[in-house]
Amino acid sequence: MKRLRCTVFHAALALCAGCSLESTEQADLSAESAAALLVAHRGASAYAPEHTMAAYQLAIEQGADFIEPDLQLTRDGVLIALHDLTLGRTTDVREVFPDRFREELVRGETVRRWYANDFTLEEIRRLDAGSWFGERFQGVRIPTLSEVIELASGQAGIFPETKAPDVYGERGYDMERLLLDELERHGLHKRNADPSTPVIIQSFSAESLRILRHDLATDLPLTFLISGPAADEWLTAEGLAEISEFATGIGPTRSLLLEHPGAVDLAHQAGLTVIPWTFAARGPDGSTTVVEEMAHFLFELGVDGLFTNNPDLFPRTPPDEGS
Ligand code: G3P
Ligand code: CA
Repeated sequence: MKRLRCTVFHAALALCAGCSLESTEQADLSAESAAALLVAHRGASAYAPEHTMAAYQLAIEQGADFIEPDLQLTRDGVLIALHDLTLGRTTDVREVFPDRFREELVRGETVRRWYANDFTLEEIRRLDAGSWFGERFQGVRIPTLSEVIELASGQAGIFPETKAPDVYGERGYDMERLLLDELERHGLHKRNADPSTPVIIQSFSAESLRILRHDLATDLPLTFLISGPAADEWLTAEGLAEISEFATGIGPTRSLLLEHPGAVDLAHQAGLTVIPWTFAARGPDGSTTVVEEMAHFLFELGVDGLFTNNPDLFPRTPPDEGS
């Protein structure tokens, strides 16, 4: 299985602009290029609290090719795995630090927000990031990126996302540099440095990816996440050609690909991989639905992988071949 995963990763890289693979790797690609990447969205987040070691560990056990840490920064400049800029949704910060909020006006109402960046790592380590999801996860902590890398090392790839890099830039942090430095500390800052732990960096910010590719000259694969009003322009031949100047793949929403089914071929023609998000079982019959949905995207639309909260339900083969 690990041999297959490495080859699958090369298959994704082969679609990248500017990649040059050895001839043996090229031969592998033709044999197995139909295989696609299973990216565990925030870990196995359907079954364990998102962005915790419990969720990442379970994702690896369920066969994820990649685990996905979203990245935020602590006050002391440490990259942590957390989706939101704030701590309120997924931790007990209100109880532990009742006075450490900022008040903001939202639609005419004053709201209290506990920003992760207002806390040091030592303070963030005191928070319970599991109880909101279920009692049995009480006391699990927000991990650092370094801890996530250590867990994944030799077992799965990591697909880190620079979250709100502009916000952190305004606060004086260089998120892209910090990310590459952390990867370098683990020997993962170069493409194919450790084939058992491949790295793809993703962002909604084209600027963040341009910094990584052009200013910091990383050769790691970069995925540009696409959603919102600008999506229609990015998913044209012209838009995709522009993306190929700073990224090696796109990560559109599921619904965007349904609206623009031709975008997969257009992206491939531009040398870009296509890894949509997010596939999640919903409702009482959700597991069946999400398997069929993922199969449609993988085997009919021809995407190169997908982000899912349910790694255990990812179909490795088309339905008529069994899974
Ligand atoms: O990174 C792909 C997908 O995770 C983007 O959505 O909000 O879950 O980070 P979000
Ligand atoms: Ca994400």
